[in-house]
Amino acid sequence: MEPNKKKQYDSVKYTKQYIDAKEKEKIIYKDTVDFVKRNFFPKRNFFPKVVLDCGCGYGRSLDTFKIKAHKIVGIDISKKALAKTKNYIKDKVFLINGDVENLPFKDKSVDLILSIEVISYTDNFKKALIEMKRVLADNGAIVISVENKYGGILCDPYLEKSELKKAIKYAKTRKTRYFTEEEITNILEELGFRIVFRDKIGFTYSGIFHRFMFSKCEIRNIESICKKDNILSELSRGLCFVCVKN
Ligand SMILES: C[S@@+](CC[C@H](N)C(=O)[O-])C[C@H]1O[C@@H](n2cnc3c(N)ncnc32)[C@H](O)[C@@H]1O
Repeated sequence: MEPNKKKQYDSVKYTKQYIDAKEKEKIIYKDTVDFVKRNFFPKRNFFPKVVLDCGCGYGRSLDTFKIKAHKIVGIDISKKALAKTKNYIKDKVFLINGDVENLPFKDKSVDLILSIEVISYTDNFKKALIEMKRVLADNGAIVISVENKYGGILCDPYLEKSELKKAIKYAKTRKTRYFTEEEITNILEELGFRIVFRDKIGFTYSGIFHRFMFSKCEIRNIESICKKDNILSELSRGLCFVCVKN
C-alpha cells in the first residue's frame, strides 16, 4: 500500500452487501416464522381458528407468516394501507379500519396475534398491548416486534441518504417509540406476557456501515463510539418476540 494513503471504502464490496441485504429482507422474519410454526402448529395442538394482524399495513406480515387459519383478520387505522392490502395478499382476509387500542373483538377470541412494527407507532402502546392480551385466547400466542433504540432508522440499510430525512420526519410526526431489549422485555412481562422466543431483526453492523458510508463518516469512528457505549451486540433495526399468556 502506498504510504500515507488513506484507507478507502470498498464500494464494490459495500454495494454487494447492500444488494445482499435487500435480498435478505425477504427472509427477515424467517427465524421467528420457523419458531412459530415449529412450536405451535400442530405439535401443541394449536391450529389457529382466528388470526389477527394488529396494524396490518398493506399486509406484509400476513404474507411473511403465511399462517393458515379458519379466519384471518387485519386491522389498521390507515384506510390507505388497507386499500393496498387487498392487492398485496392473496389469502382471504377480513379487513377492519380500526384502532388497536380499542380492538372490536370479544375477550379471548383470537388464537394468534401478529403485531409487527406497530406499537412503536401507536399513541398509547401499553393500551394497545393490554387490548391484545384481552382478546388473546388462553393458549394463544402473540408475535410482536418493535423498533430497537440501538438501531431503528440508523440500522436500516435500505434507506438512501435522500430518504433518510423524510424517514426521520415521518418517525417524528408519528412519535415513533424506540425500545431497548430490556425495556420492552420488562413491559411485556409486567403486562402478563411470557416471552418464549426472541430475535433481532433487520441488519445490524452492516446497516450501520451503510448509514455512515452514505453520510461519509469514518467507519472506525463509529466502531469506537459503539465499542465505547458497549452497544455493538445490541444493534438491530428491530426486536421481535413470541409471547404466550402467563
Ligand atoms: C410500520 S407499519 C407496519 C405494518 C405491518 N405490520 C408490516 O409489518 O408491514 C405500522 C402500521 O401500524 C398502523 N397503526 C399505527 N397506529 C395504529 C393504531 N392505533 N391502530 C391500528 N393501526 C395502527 C399504521 O397505519 C401502519 O400501517
